[in-house]
Amino acid sequence: MPLTNYDWYAWHAPYDQLRTPETDRLEQVQEAISAALDTAPPGRLTAVSACAGQARDLLPVLISHPRGPDIDALLIELDPLNASFLHGALGSTALTSVDVVVADAGAAASYAGHVPAELLLMCGVFANIDRKAARHTISRLNELVAPAGSVIWTTYGGSVGDAGDVLTAFAAAEFTLVSLVWAADRSWLVAVHRFDGAGRPWSDDGVLFAFRPLAES
Ligand SMILES: C[S@@+](CC[C@H](N)C(=O)[O-])C[C@H]1O[C@@H](n2cnc3c(N)ncnc32)[C@H](O)[C@@H]1O
Repeated sequence: MPLTNYDWYAWHAPYDQLRTPETDRLEQVQEAISAALDTAPPGRLTAVSACAGQARDLLPVLISHPRGPDIDALLIELDPLNASFLHGALGSTALTSVDVVVADAGAAASYAGHVPAELLLMCGVFANIDRKAARHTISRLNELVAPAGSVIWTTYGGSVGDAGDVLTAFAAAEFTLVSLVWAADRSWLVAVHRFDGAGRPWSDDGVLFAFRPLAES
């Protein structure tokens, strides 16, 4: 699956400003990751970020949270510039168990060796795929998320209109809603679900989703 014709490196620029809708959303995601780690079982944990971008959400929490050293993380990101950013950012931390793969997070095979995960981030994914692909992806999360594990996802822009459909799909797939935070103007949301199902063995077969083409920014 080739990368869409869009500048996904520049997409992260609002995170560097002082206070933007994006920094507000990011703060909520960081809090949700921290809360998930607070209640995670003892021992080693696996975290996977699908379409990780620059991992502005996960990396700061791994650095600062007491459970950070217990986590084996996989960051799946297709854009080579963002992957370089990730390598650079990781180089200035003491984290030693974070893998960056330049791969298609829409391919089930890209999750090899890191699932089922106790924590799965799908931040920004449902903003870029259609409802049918979202439903299909969610129906396969029982392969990617460990029982009692958490999924954190965000959406924004026009795709917030799909939120009801996405929430229904999570419920149908045995994920219990733990928290749901909307922006005051409803321009984004951050949701956390716990997997209450039994799980299914991961299969490396098939496509979960593909991003819609976007205009070049
Ligand atoms: C909307 S951004 C979200 C980034 C990050 N998760 C966040 O919320 O800050 C989407 C990211 O997915 C990456 N991407 C797009 N298609 C992808 C694919 N098929 N597999 C992996 N990454 C992809 C883009 O390069 C971009 O960095």
